[in-house]
Amino acid sequence: MAVMYYEDLKAEIRSIVAGETSAVARYATAACLLSEAFRPRFYWTGFYLVDPLKPYELVVGPYQGTLGCLRIPFGRGVCGHVAQTRETLIVPNVHEFEGHIACDSQTNSEIVVPVFASDGQLAAVLDIDSTQLNAFDEADKAGLEAICQILLSEDTRL
Ligand code: SME
Repeated sequence: MAVMYYEDLKAEIRSIVAGETSAVARYATAACLLSEAFRPRFYWTGFYLVDPLKPYELVVGPYQGTLGCLRIPFGRGVCGHVAQTRETLIVPNVHEFEGHIACDSQTNSEIVVPVFASDGQLAAVLDIDSTQLNAFDEADKAGLEAICQILLSEDTRL
């Protein structure tokens, strides 16, 4: 069921952001639609963007949820880890992940997906947190990666 759901969501996001050159507008649209579609399983849904002025630091971007921390250096926490490895990571229990950054103590599991610009550079990471333990599976990974792949295009700017 989730697979079909992600296909529909991807099509919806693609059609809404078609022709939109602002990356922030595109991230905000995806954060909103994902958060609404998977409420309440998705408790915090948003993007951390690679800071163009500090290329090894993430800065918070559009999100839906409780207050997120503003900056995450590459290598710190789950988001910083994914920024470094450039590979999706599912963390079934954040309390067992060394260095997890607890912006909200209600988070128990998360998935973080890298977002690449059309030139292959890392542009952002999509961070989704859940209050449930073990909330994310391979269908989420595949669906979210497919959505992240259509987020940026050649004419997208910050
Ligand atoms: N979960 C992240 C921190 C960001 S917030 O939870 C919104 C991490 O450990 O990378």
